[in-house]
Amino acid sequence: MIDTITQKANTAHNSKSYYPEEWQQGYKTQPNEYEYQIEDIEGKIPSELEGTLFRNGPGRLDIGGTPIKHPFDGDGMINAFYFKDGKAYYRNRYVRTKAYVEEEKAGKPLYRGVFGTQKPGGWLSNAFDFRLKNIANTNIIYWGDKLLALWEAAEPHRLDPSTLKTIGIDYLDGVLKEGEAFAAHPWIDPHCELDNGEPCLINFRIEPGLSSKITVFEFSSQGKLLRRRSHSVPGFCFIHDFAITPNYCIFFQNAVSFNPLPFAFGLQGAGECVKFQPKEPTNVILIPRNPENKKVINFKVESGFVFHHANAFETDGKLYIDSIAYKSLPQVQPDTNYKDVDFALLDPGQLWRFSYDFQTKKVERKLLESRCCEFPYVHPDKAGKAYRYLFMGISHEATGNAPLQAIMKADLQTGDRAIHSFAPHGYVSEPIFVPKPSATEEDAGWVLTLVYDGSQHRSSLAILDGQNLAGDAIARLHLKHHIPYGLHGSWCDRVFI
Ligand code: CO
Repeated sequence: MIDTITQKANTAHNSKSYYPEEWQQGYKTQPNEYEYQIEDIEGKIPSELEGTLFRNGPGRLDIGGTPIKHPFDGDGMINAFYFKDGKAYYRNRYVRTKAYVEEEKAGKPLYRGVFGTQKPGGWLSNAFDFRLKNIANTNIIYWGDKLLALWEAAEPHRLDPSTLKTIGIDYLDGVLKEGEAFAAHPWIDPHCELDNGEPCLINFRIEPGLSSKITVFEFSSQGKLLRRRSHSVPGFCFIHDFAITPNYCIFFQNAVSFNPLPFAFGLQGAGECVKFQPKEPTNVILIPRNPENKKVINFKVESGFVFHHANAFETDGKLYIDSIAYKSLPQVQPDTNYKDVDFALLDPGQLWRFSYDFQTKKVERKLLESRCCEFPYVHPDKAGKAYRYLFMGISHEATGNAPLQAIMKADLQTGDRAIHSFAPHGYVSEPIFVPKPSATEEDAGWVLTLVYDGSQHRSSLAILDGQNLAGDAIARLHLKHHIPYGLHGSWCDRVFI
């Protein structure tokens, strides 16, 4: 008996929940642009599910056969799933950024990527080339009657929501000037107290340097700028995401240093010159949203490195921030191919709750979920408010670090967890929660996630039941091809066909 148990434990220890060679195939370029009605469907698309799922992510992982150094350098490819009358239509299209068009024509890299992709010809041909390639690959939102592809270091690109054709760089009606960045992680405050309960979109921009400027923008649902506020903080900022409450925008200034020399001399990408300082605390910056409140609050917290926040809220004189934190920055070593990364050597992202008492200024932290997780998502009505359910991508195994192969629904009130796993062949993307029309329960809705099937080298969209996540998928919509691993997306109630 003991032998059997030991044997089982050894097998589990030695085997992986996935096949590395299958996982690697998910990073193959998708060179084609498709449009078709999805007909290969398991289950049934709910007829009340009406609207459009937009997703963004690197679609081109090589340029004319030259592999890029890191997937974050890949050109943005938009996927749209249009749902109407229980049917689904699919379309994908590359964002025609200036660099994408030029490099397609040249058939080789003409720009350096932030994450280490270099032009051919060694350091000599890359040194002192500080041109930024706007790759429009991180997120996509429909707001103010505009579909915008976002990349945090430059301006958004506007696309036609029905054809996905690129209209061009969008300066948000003059809010941005040429070359000004606009982050890829906007929040929608569904009932903004400053605007009589109307929804507003909040986003930010970082201007990094020896001291860094954070600018916060709030837009009306017509896309009109309502509020703008800038605040400078000492030191370099690497801030990818933020969180909101009705009163504050919350930024985690990760403890990093930046040495620009390897970038300047053409040896590394700018992103590779950022070094995480794991022994230093994170500086948390609370920028008030109400223009009459001038008091920015700062405090320190031991968090590790944070890319994504799940949510934040204020209750009983305290601020709570739920974030995915890494003990160390998951960076691929300069001489290692990202596809050969040994997951076991990297720290997993874990879900933490940080709290700050406005009165006593006491800071606390608590581990909410130790399992490897990323891409948190909450009910859109709960943005910035106390909430119960969190959806996120997780590893199949309960411990260690591995690709995301399952979706978890975490009940933060009871501690219950529900898991829907696609292992060993499936790899999930960010789960997007779409509330059922006129439903009142927080988990009454559909969880949409793109799944790459490594055994068939194609992708599907899974529709899971928010109230029965661990149960069978409501539907699996099989595409005719694969979609490389993506980043972020959003749901829009309108159908653009
Ligand atoms: Co992100």
